[in-house]
Amino acid sequence: MSLTEDRTGQDERTVPAPPPGLDVDAPATRYEPLPPAAEYHPPRGHIHPDTELGWIRRMWPVVWAEKKRFGIALGMAFIALLANVAIPAVVGEGIDAIRAQTDVRTWVILLLVLSVARAFSTYGYRSRLYKFAYSIEYDLRSLMFRHLATMSHGFYDKVQTGQLVSRANSDIRAVQMLLAFAPFMAMMSMTFVLAFAYMLTKHVLLTLVAISTLPLVYVFGVKLRDIMFPLSWVVQGRLAEVATTVEENVTGVRVVKAFAGEQRQIQQLARQARRLRWAAVKVTDSRARYAPLMENLPRLGMALTLLYGGYLAIDGKVTVGTIITFSSYVLLLQAPFRMLGFFMIMSQRAAASAGRIFEILDTPAEIIDRPDADDLVDPEGAVRFDHVTFRYGEDDQLVLEDFDLEVRPGETMALVGGTGSGKSTVARLLLRFYDVDEGAVRIDGHDVRDLTMASIRHHVGMVTDEPFLFSSSIHDNIAYARPDATRDEVVAAAKAANAHGFIGELADGYDTVIGERGYTLSGGQRQRIAIARTLVANPAVLVLDDATSAVDVRVEAEIHEALEHLSADRTTIVIAHRLSTIALADRVALLRHGKVLAVGTHQELLVHEPHYREVLATADLVDEEADVGSVSEQSARGAAEQTAQQHEVEG
Ligand SMILES: Nc1ncnc2c1ncn2[C@@H]1O[C@H](COP(=O)(O)OP(=O)(O)OP(=O)(O)O)[C@@H](O)[C@H]1O
Ligand SMILES: [Mg+2]
Repeated sequence: MSLTEDRTGQDERTVPAPPPGLDVDAPATRYEPLPPAAEYHPPRGHIHPDTELGWIRRMWPVVWAEKKRFGIALGMAFIALLANVAIPAVVGEGIDAIRAQTDVRTWVILLLVLSVARAFSTYGYRSRLYKFAYSIEYDLRSLMFRHLATMSHGFYDKVQTGQLVSRANSDIRAVQMLLAFAPFMAMMSMTFVLAFAYMLTKHVLLTLVAISTLPLVYVFGVKLRDIMFPLSWVVQGRLAEVATTVEENVTGVRVVKAFAGEQRQIQQLARQARRLRWAAVKVTDSRARYAPLMENLPRLGMALTLLYGGYLAIDGKVTVGTIITFSSYVLLLQAPFRMLGFFMIMSQRAAASAGRIFEILDTPAEIIDRPDADDLVDPEGAVRFDHVTFRYGEDDQLVLEDFDLEVRPGETMALVGGTGSGKSTVARLLLRFYDVDEGAVRIDGHDVRDLTMASIRHHVGMVTDEPFLFSSSIHDNIAYARPDATRDEVVAAAKAANAHGFIGELADGYDTVIGERGYTLSGGQRQRIAIARTLVANPAVLVLDDATSAVDVRVEAEIHEALEHLSADRTTIVIAHRLSTIALADRVALLRHGKVLAVGTHQELLVHEPHYREVLATADLVDEEADVGSVSEQSARGAAEQTAQQHEVEG
């Protein structure tokens, strides 16, 4: 997903981005960065929701949505099939007419007409069938991506990206191939039936002789399949291995180089490439061995036909035309026999793929808007965690237990606690990335589960310590929440985040395209762009989860100063490890094992809470350069030394 794609719909925008004050009746879509009008062409079909049905039945609505194309393809395929069967018969009749010295013109004209009809109908059905297949692929991919977009964090925490990508690609391809190949296979089988019936009317025994080698074609087809399919899996797997290594080496190149691991990586890749080559050669080898056999078996059938047919012709039991027709049919008829084995395995594979696709589509989105959810409108920014109990998964440990905290409108509250104490979890619950197990999270008194998620995420902005930036321009990155933001708004946000200075020094300023995930920027620069991105939406509640960990203390102080100027009545929850940041907060909440141990000013906690001093000390947070709250810092440093000594004594 790239930002530029999102911005393409901008011209079609009909709904302007919401200003901070919105009327109560505004539809929820007003909080979406892009209105539905700018949407891409949505999938036309759907998957049948009944999980009890077979996979073809479940896929059927997707096929049915393409019924016109599919119907035309089938119709044309039928014409092609008739022409295919008729042409050898017409040739045979023509030859008989020549031998009987009767008028051959009718047959010649018929042959021409049939050839033209076959050419057109073959083109017609092939192109329609491909279009049909690719439409299905598009629909399945859209359905899958749409569904993935509704999934909540809990799903993505567990799922493996590689699995998702492979499902979106190879599984959809496998299903699509079968859906396109099945009509083709059906057509070939019908060719067989028609030609076989025609042959029987001419001479029963000769027919049996003509098709006598076809069972062998089938047997060898199955044998080839049995060799090829396991091998092609091996090739697939090894291709994936090579791809993974290459991908890892490119994304992890900094680690590889830092440890001088290039040679090791090259050797690993060479080993995998060799393994891939072995499998690929094996595949071609078996194909080279069996393909000539299978291609020439029908020729044996042809020879037998000529031999026995010759005898019959001498006795006057069949005509020469019939023999020629029969020998053409032998070639025509072997195709379905060759394909049958592959078709069977293709359908097994497609069934398995469909199962994997359904597995994703059938996973319900855990967190969705209630049907009667209201928009959060013009909030004051009162945040309340009301005796919240939460665990990430059913088997996981409790992360928050009876967590109770109130943040007043406009207040800056710092969350302090040891690593793993649940600080980031608190922030995630506020944005409703997860739902609480007990208790409630409230904004302005509304349970977040009663509000639309789009409106919550519009009014509550979060910046994390590892911001993800897109590979697009700095302007686009900052304007992500509001693609229609003007340059002035983007600049204002960048100034507040203390990013304007360094952006101005870049070659193209705000139009500089940043490298993948923002690697062309320093960690602190990335963080400041992420802060600007959040500020552009001017959220009433701002959560900074270690968001300034990568900038120095002076820059951080400037950011906080700018934040205060920008909106005095913004509620800010800041998760920080630095004393300099913590000292800026109105109040501090001390967390321990998912509970609020104490709430108070920095000074109060320093005096009354031994655990507070411990947390500040063990995390080694004292910042030498900090000139903010230097008194408290000294006492914290004293405490730190004390605790360290204690540990030494105890250990
Ligand atoms: N997505 C997740 N799935 C399951 N467990 C998680 C998940 N995220 C965090 N946890 C667990 O929840 C607990 C609290 O994690 P959290 O990230 O809230 O800690 P934190 O206070 O932010 O720590 P830090 O200061 O290191 O960032 C930890 O024990 C962690 O292992
Ligand atoms: Mg954290």
